[in-house]
Amino acid sequence: MLSGTESKEQAQKIAAEIGKHYLGRPDLIELLLTGLLSRGHILLEGVPGVAKTTLVKAFAGALGVDFQRIQFTPDLLPADITGSYVYNMREQEFDLRKGPLFSNIVLADEINRAPAKTQSAMLEAMAEQQVTIEGERHDLHSPYMVLATQNPVEQEGVYMLPEAQLDRFLMKLHLGFPRREVERAMLRRYRKAPAAIEEVITAEDILAWQRAAEEVHISEELEEYILDLVSFTRKHRSVLLGVSPRASLGLLRASRALALVRGRDYVIPDDIRLLAVPIMAHRMVMHSEAELEGIRAEQIIHDALKRIAVIRKDAKAS
Ligand SMILES: Nc1ncnc2c1ncn2[C@@H]1O[C@H](COP(=O)(O)OP(=O)(O)OP(=O)(O)O)[C@@H](O)[C@H]1O
Ligand SMILES: [Mg+2]
Repeated sequence: MLSGTESKEQAQKIAAEIGKHYLGRPDLIELLLTGLLSRGHILLEGVPGVAKTTLVKAFAGALGVDFQRIQFTPDLLPADITGSYVYNMREQEFDLRKGPLFSNIVLADEINRAPAKTQSAMLEAMAEQQVTIEGERHDLHSPYMVLATQNPVEQEGVYMLPEAQLDRFLMKLHLGFPRREVERAMLRRYRKAPAAIEEVITAEDILAWQRAAEEVHISEELEEYILDLVSFTRKHRSVLLGVSPRASLGLLRASRALALVRGRDYVIPDDIRLLAVPIMAHRMVMHSEAELEGIRAEQIIHDALKRIAVIRKDAKAS
């Protein structure tokens, strides 16, 4: 079994490799790794040109696994991403031509440009790790991770993801404009062509790492903490729809994974606190009055983190 120290070193090596191409937000790299170890999918949101594609490409490159990119467009059909049977004249039979969903890491670029039918083919792939082609099910690769990007600016020809689909993403991460120092470093670095990305680990390493994450210890008190956080979102008067049980499960799995990425075999409250916004905010639907007042899901979660304490079991008993 992978030790905490080995895990931390592995994470640092990957982060260093990604850092050769993507500058500025080591916290995002840590969250991508956490998503990978908890077998989750991630939605990256940000305006054009803030390095969404650059980050995902560097991430996949450092992992040494198969990588496919799908550019979503309004005319993209489900079969374009799942694959289809093509008639082979010579053999006089139908061959399966696998689509880009057959890969370890799938970059679904601008997912909100695809029509609903294609989005739901994507959804099946994400939730079931399989696709249906002409009524027949096919397993997808392992490890499997979808990294989708979307542009938050409402435009024509954009189909905003419905809540049900957002819930399938373990986390939503927001990429903003870089700080001035980061942007300056980027300008200087781009005078010379970037080096090719080196593969730091293999698919086998990732599978072992994922298994190790499942063994990370979480105390009963922290389980209760997770339950308190999710129920806060369900009871809040500004919230129309609180987070689903998929969110509590996500918090559990991701906090174990983050603990391991940071070199621990047990979860601490800070793991959960750090993940609360990326895992819960995108699943909450606010009341329209609250929305008009400018109250955001993130604020509700920050409020929950401030108000809810981790209650030690011995303290509860007394
Ligand atoms: N933080 C950064 N680190 C390294 N390069 C960056 C950074 N920010 C922007 N760039 C550079 O800016 C350019 C645009 O980045 P990229 O194509 O990844 O953006 P994007 O967010 O995917 O944009 P779009 O939404 O248009 O697809 C690339 O050349 C990229 O290398
Ligand atoms: Mg892009």
